[in-house]
Order: sequence, then structure tokens, then C-alpha cells
Amino acid sequence: MRLDDLGKTLSSVTKGRSTVVVTDKNVEKFYLSRCVESLRKEGFQVDTFVVEPGEESKSGKTYLELLNFLASIPLTRTDFLVALGGGVVGDLTGFAAATYLRGIDVIQIPTTLLASVDSSIGGKTGINLEAGKNLAGAFHQPLLVYQDSSLLQTLPAAVFKDGMAEVIKYAILQDKELFSMLKDVKWTKSHIDDVIQTCVSIKKVYVEEDEFDKGRRQLLNFGHTIAHAIEKATGYKVSHGSAVAKGMLSIAEIAKKQGLCEQNTVDEIRKILELYQFDLEISQSPETLYEMILSDKKRKGASIDLVVPFEVGDCRLKRVTIEELKRVLCNSEIERHREDK
Ligand code: GLY
Repeated sequence: MRLDDLGKTLSSVTKGRSTVVVTDKNVEKFYLSRCVESLRKEGFQVDTFVVEPGEESKSGKTYLELLNFLASIPLTRTDFLVALGGGVVGDLTGFAAATYLRGIDVIQIPTTLLASVDSSIGGKTGINLEAGKNLAGAFHQPLLVYQDSSLLQTLPAAVFKDGMAEVIKYAILQDKELFSMLKDVKWTKSHIDDVIQTCVSIKKVYVEEDEFDKGRRQLLNFGHTIAHAIEKATGYKVSHGSAVAKGMLSIAEIAKKQGLCEQNTVDEIRKILELYQFDLEISQSPETLYEMILSDKKRKGASIDLVVPFEVGDCRLKRVTIEELKRVLCNSEIERHREDK
């Protein structure tokens, strides 16, 4: 799919005639005018809403500004939103679409690897609250995920790497073949479409089986419990992908200490993350991380479901009580922990 064909494609999938394209200032420079032109050429009425890049835009303030903007046009129930961007733009726009007029359509156009393989698919939308990441949100499936992988060509290396954490997550979760392939770093340029397709196919099965995240879909959160705690503790200065990399290794180390996996599994996970040059040091104390995890939305009363690697290609859900989690985390002597800052 090419961005320039967006208008043509949408003509046949929606009856809506008006749209707002939401993007951020980074993506605006490269792709907004192409996106808008393609839509206008097919007769769509197009407005745009551009947010600051970064996690701060997943806030209640930006969300309300966006809703008020939609109402000022006004966008009606048959109209739709376009999310042109990465995870922040996708989650924010998806949540606005889920709630504006009690729900209008949204088209996701991922422009990062992370959004391509994960956040644009499956209908999780939301914003952050002061208490934690993604604490307000809704399940709202996109009408269409419009994937044009050439849009990833302008990604800074660090942002591309961020998405690699999610790709590695899928491999550790259930795909040994993908894991082996990723060990050969030369794959990146020529096989990006295959890698995206593989990840999307894996995620599709989890979402179809468990759309509302009550069971198996939670496995997709491998590494995310500790990751969200790190993101929150650092005021989102550590990016999502970097935090997921740290989180995956930490939970593997904890699993080893609990006798749930072999040292070999921890070593394999560490090696692949090092291959992609992830900084695996965690500067928060286990106590700080535990405090942050208490407000995690995956918590269920006095317990929380952790995703634990038994080996590469085999992760399982393990329910632990909050007390157990504290004991496991705070006795884990996470090796990369320095000083709590
Ligand atoms: N990002 C995990 C999920 O969509 O369930």
C-alpha cells in the first residue's frame, strides 16, 4: 500500500466524507501533505491536528483539545479520524475516535516500526494519567490499518530500534524461527515487510482469541510490567522500546531465580538485546519499581499476571500476589541496578 493511494482505498471502505488527520510535528514534515492531498483528490473534506512529538501528548489535556477541535468542525458520526504516526498518535487518536460522539471510525497509518508491529493493531487505545501509563482508554478496533512500510525509511535509528524491542518480544514469546533470523542483523533493510507481516500475524491470533485482554492476549505484555514502571519512574524519558528491552531481561532473570527457566534462556535474551544495542541497565531500585507496578492496569486486586519466559519461544502467564511480587522483585537483586535516582 502507498500513502498516495490512501484516498482511493478509503473511498471504497467508508461512507464518511470528512476527516481529521492527527499527526505529530516530526511526521508532519515528511508525510502530512501527501496524506492530505491523497484524501482531497478523492473529494474528502480534510482538517489536520498536529501534536507535539512524545509521550506528553498522550495526556488528558491534548485529548480534550482534540475532542473540542473535532466538535468545532463539526465531525459527525459517519466521519472518521486518521492517525498518521507512531504509538502516541495512534493511541491518542484511537481513544478520541472511541469516545467522540460515543465512537466514530479511525484509520491507523503507522509510521514507526513499533506502531507497525504492535500499537496500530488490536484496538487498544488510550492516554496516560498521572498515576500511570495507559490508565484511561478503550478497546476500539480501527476500520483499517494502512501499512506503507516505505514510511519507515525516514525513522531515526533510535526510533527504529525502539520498535525492534517489540519485534524481539514476539520472537521470544512464540517464534524461534524469527528469533534465529533476528540473530542475523543483516535482515533489516531487505526483509522489513516480512518481519512486520510475521509480527502482525502473531498478534492477530491473540487479538482474535481474546480481544478484551482477559486471558491469552496478556502474553503480549511480555516485559511490559517492568517497562511501564520504568517509563513512569523516569517521567517517560526512557522510551517504550528501551523500557521493554530492560523489562524482558529483568523478568527473565527473575524467572531464572524462581527456577522457571534456565540460565541459557536468560543469556539468549540478553545476547539478542545486546546485539540490537539496547542499554539493559536499570537505574531504579526494585522498591521503586514495585511502587510503580502497584498502579499498573494489569493488576487484579491483590494479584497481578506476569508474563514469564520458560524458554525462548515459550512464555506463560503466572499469577502472583502483590506480596509475592514484592518479595520476588525486591529479592531479585536485579543485576543492572545501580543507585535509585
Ligand atoms: N500491546 C499489547 C496488546 O495490544 O495487547
